[in-house]
Amino acid sequence: MIPPPLALPLLSLLTGLLLFFPPGAVASGTRNFQFFAPPTEGTLPNGPLGRLIRQGELIFIHTGQFAHRYVGNDLTCESCHLDRGIKPYSAPLWGAYGIYPRYRKKNHTVSTLEERIQGCFRFSLNGTPPPLGGRTMKALLAYSFWVSRGAPVGLYLKGQGLRHMSKPAEPPSRLRGKRVFESRCSLCHGLDGQGTQADNNQVAFPPVWGPRSFNKGAGFYNVGKLAGFIKMNMPLSKGQTLSDQQAWDVAAYIDSQPRPEDPRKAGGKHS
Ligand code: HEC
Ligand code: HEC
Repeated sequence: MIPPPLALPLLSLLTGLLLFFPPGAVASGTRNFQFFAPPTEGTLPNGPLGRLIRQGELIFIHTGQFAHRYVGNDLTCESCHLDRGIKPYSAPLWGAYGIYPRYRKKNHTVSTLEERIQGCFRFSLNGTPPPLGGRTMKALLAYSFWVSRGAPVGLYLKGQGLRHMSKPAEPPSRLRGKRVFESRCSLCHGLDGQGTQADNNQVAFPPVWGPRSFNKGAGFYNVGKLAGFIKMNMPLSKGQTLSDQQAWDVAAYIDSQPRPEDPRKAGGKHS
């Protein structure tokens, strides 16, 4: 029992704490909040902002066409951030928009969203980062903003990033992974992993290794991350049909194949 003379100071301390750390802030680690990205089509504002958003969407979907000088392979943003960057567990834009600036262990600094996007150009697209404040970056930011309307700021949302994979029962096996790849993936990505081209020379299915795929500095060069992506998203439109072990195995197989070096490493073949 709290003695009466202490009750009032304690109560005001509690109120003070609540004012300082409101329940929303305490919940900053939550992943239970379900968010659905609003549509872009038909809802764009008129004028320059609408045009910029639309341009960002085009860059996102046809990166090699609309931002060609910054792209060094056959992938687009949408190759990995599916459904125009809004599919849960494929690192959707609405899951990212509200959690930057963010501390990242990869480079031990606090990154802004723009710097994060530059990283995807450099590693995932094996290209050159577009300058901050330039038209390409502004358009991608405007598009990210538009699909994130209504998303809370400072919260980790359900479906943000990639599915976290616990360590598999058995260590990932490239040999088993090769068999998974041949039976479940090669139809689209090719037995040689080089993807397939449509008649009009456009990339129909992107390469998953080799000179036209992501480089060794990319997030997908981490087997656990790649396994999380595959588990939820591949085979295309048949996510969650592989077991966790199969996802780890096929990720280990893909990441054991040749691909461009990490441009940060001396002697890396980066142009
Ligand atoms: C080869 C696959 C790949 C491509 C291509 C790619 N990204 Fe990424 N991107 C990733 C991975 C992997 C992550 C890290 C996700 C994680 O760790 O949760 C990421 C993270 C991001 C994030 C931060 C997400 C978050 O939740 O923190 C943004 C924003 C982003 N990418 C934008 C882009 C844009 C814009 C492009 C095209 C210019 C692009 N990406 C191309 C794989 C890719
Ligand atoms: C039905 C065709 C199809 C099948 C089967 C398929 N994929 Fe994909 N995959 C795609 C398409 C299409 C994309 C790009 C998505 C986009 O551009 O909208 C993609 C993207 C990817 C990516 C990211 C981009 C890249 O090239 O690195 C990886 C990794 C990947 N798939 C792995 C797999 C694995 C592993 C399997 C088998 C378990 C698989 N896929 C089965 C069609 C397929």
